Amino acid sequence: MSNYRTIELDRHAGIFKALSSPHRLQIFSLLAGCCESGTGTRCSTDEVMKYCVGDLSSRLNIAASTLSHHLKELHRAGLIEMQRQGKQIFCSINPSTLAEVSALFTNASQTPFITLRTPMDHKNADDIRQNVRASYSQVAEASNSGDCCGETSSCCGVSSDDAINTLVSTRLGYSADDLAAVPNGADMGLGCGNPRAIASIKAGETVLDLGSGGGFDCFLAAAETGEQGHVIGVDMTPVMISKARDNASRGLYHQVEFRLGEIENLPVADASVDVIISNCVINLSPNKARVFAETFRVLKTGGRLAISDVVAGTELPDEIRDDLQLYSGCMAGASLISELETILADCGFSEIKISPQDESREFIKDWAPGRGVEDYVLSASIEAVKPGGCRP
Ligand SMILES: C[S@@+](CC[C@H](N)C(=O)[O-])C[C@H]1O[C@@H](n2cnc3c(N)ncnc32)[C@H](O)[C@@H]1O
Repeated sequence: MSNYRTIELDRHAGIFKALSSPHRLQIFSLLAGCCESGTGTRCSTDEVMKYCVGDLSSRLNIAASTLSHHLKELHRAGLIEMQRQGKQIFCSINPSTLAEVSALFTNASQTPFITLRTPMDHKNADDIRQNVRASYSQVAEASNSGDCCGETSSCCGVSSDDAINTLVSTRLGYSADDLAAVPNGADMGLGCGNPRAIASIKAGETVLDLGSGGGFDCFLAAAETGEQGHVIGVDMTPVMISKARDNASRGLYHQVEFRLGEIENLPVADASVDVIISNCVINLSPNKARVFAETFRVLKTGGRLAISDVVAGTELPDEIRDDLQLYSGCMAGASLISELETILADCGFSEIKISPQDESREFIKDWAPGRGVEDYVLSASIEAVKPGGCRP
């Protein structure tokens, strides 16, 4: 580094600053061709992929205004090039900056300096979601027909045996009263914590449950909001939604409704929710930045997140990260705590608090016996607040 000139130092620091956001890394990774093969236009002269901005927005699930801000930052740092062609703007990687930064790490400018990975980067986000949906359809159907999937119940398996589900949920901190209060079949032992315990739900509030499954946490939340409140469960698996609606009508929960949809594209109005709960779901999303951006959109100012989820305490090895079954089982998709903190801060959340629960490794080891997943992932509570508004 002795011959490192100040001017280079400043420029390189600017490059790393520009890359210090999950959205910008996502964009950069796609333009650099580090992800799945693109549908962009390969320019025959320089072999660089060019993407039209509109395509990038839908492909990466990033709102156009947010995308334009991030593209400007990447462009300012010299990482990408932007070109207007007719009415459209095309962007591409700047090969010389890429090679230059590459040399910093490898002394061999031919070697890509960064191999950015998305979970299972050979799969695209929709493939992952379809796989997760198929798994939870099976879970709901098995539960409906009373088929038992295994000796133990877990985030990925379901037991028709109420005694097993009770055991699992009691381990997560639900009381016998909680379990007795909900319609039969609502608790499928699919959680990894008890988000309601940290949500401080008040009478009359609007609660949103991400990935509501059979509606277990929604029904418990409804007891706290009372008839004047409103509880919305969102789930992308149609069989789960049907099951939850059936449970709601059997339990006469008039203030609870279930909406079919993806948590990355919430079917919920802007600034309409007081508290968002979720139990063991966000780890299943291939686009967590998008999920948290959506939670920020739908929360009222002063609204809060009270989430239980599986997180990674340390980087996952490839044999775990690339295992589709472990992904649907709420293990392989877990993000590092530091990544989640960055995503939440980037979205604008304040009072961010992620509290890993070491003792959860004990039950997580039963989710995939012998695989050693508990060495990497554990359950955590995730809390944050959308700033503004008056809170007592
Ligand atoms: C592990 S289960 C948890 C269910 C429920 N929260 C509970 O504790 O019983 C995960 C649920 O999230 C849903 N899910 C997974 N990914 C989702 C996504 N991207 N959008 C909406 N729902 C999703 C699944 O269909 C499934 O019902």
